Amino acid sequence: MAADGRGGARLSESPAVVNVDPGWLAARAAADTSARASTVETLLPDLINYLIEIRAVDGILEIIDLGAGTGANQKWLAPRLPFQQRWIHLDHDPVISRSLPQPGDTMIIDSSVESLGRLLAEGSVDHRLVTCSALLDVLTTAQLDAVCEAVIDHQVPALFSLSVTGAQSVSPVDPHDQRLLDAFNDHQRRAGRAGPEAITLAGTALSAGSYTVRSAETPWQLSTPGDSAFMAQLLQERLDAAVAQDPGLSVIAKAWFELRRAQLELGVLQIEVGHRDILALPGGTSAFAERAEVEHRADVTTQAEPLYGTGQRIREQIGAGEP
Ligand SMILES: C[S@@+](CC[C@H](N)C(=O)[O-])C[C@H]1O[C@@H](n2cnc3c(N)ncnc32)[C@H](O)[C@@H]1O
Repeated sequence: MAADGRGGARLSESPAVVNVDPGWLAARAAADTSARASTVETLLPDLINYLIEIRAVDGILEIIDLGAGTGANQKWLAPRLPFQQRWIHLDHDPVISRSLPQPGDTMIIDSSVESLGRLLAEGSVDHRLVTCSALLDVLTTAQLDAVCEAVIDHQVPALFSLSVTGAQSVSPVDPHDQRLLDAFNDHQRRAGRAGPEAITLAGTALSAGSYTVRSAETPWQLSTPGDSAFMAQLLQERLDAAVAQDPGLSVIAKAWFELRRAQLELGVLQIEVGHRDILALPGGTSAFAERAEVEHRADVTTQAEPLYGTGQRIREQIGAGEP
């Protein structure tokens, strides 16, 4: 089952193993790219400035991508980080990890996220970043705890992207929207999975570990005609999950889907699916901490700032000339 509750061909109901269809990851790529765009002006400059402060620019930054799948996170993030990088993909599904070619120096480790602590303990590089995309909500709460604990124990920065929040709005509205969504979200929580609570759980655990945590909303905003095929797939798979959770919904679900299909064909359907990214930095190290603390209290999620608040400093540090 994918991070948004949809699966594809190789579903597993074991809480420990979540297999995802690579075709689904390809289908969602465009929506993910649009969703993450806002973080280029919010979370990313804070991450980059932090990495400069700890002098990650002086060596190679090792980036561990949890649940890397086909490598979409690296594809998006690597060109946006002005550092020398070495990527490690950690995924428990060797089939998906190898379903697409990866950049030559990418290391693939076939393991579950619980091995993050050991990986960090064994590492020899000075600077590391732990990241993931579309993963946190499919982890069990125990796995999520293990990830946060490893991050805190080793005082590494973390950027966790595209976790589902459980919010969804479909326009035009329908009286059955909420009931179907509730069943879908319950399905996300099955077998001890963190589901829509993942972001809150991770943010709370990392804050308790004296991390400074900042978040940004990264919703999918889908509309016809451009996203029609993906919207149909999304609705069908979310509906299947809702009915699997509550078989009593099957009649309602069938009628609801027919209506939504008709609206798709008429080009009048819009869907927003809530996601959130969090950036967590070891606390108290920079001006970021004070600013983020204020934002966290105010629950500010996306505060636009000039790209790279210390842009001049970044250029000096990475040895680049004026643009
Ligand atoms: C929805 S996919 C996201 C893939 C990729 N990060 C992306 O954004 O396209 C979730 C990925 O997490 C992996 N995964 C799920 N649970 C895992 C676990 N406990 N340990 C390691 N990988 C896991 C799956 O095999 C899958 O590749």
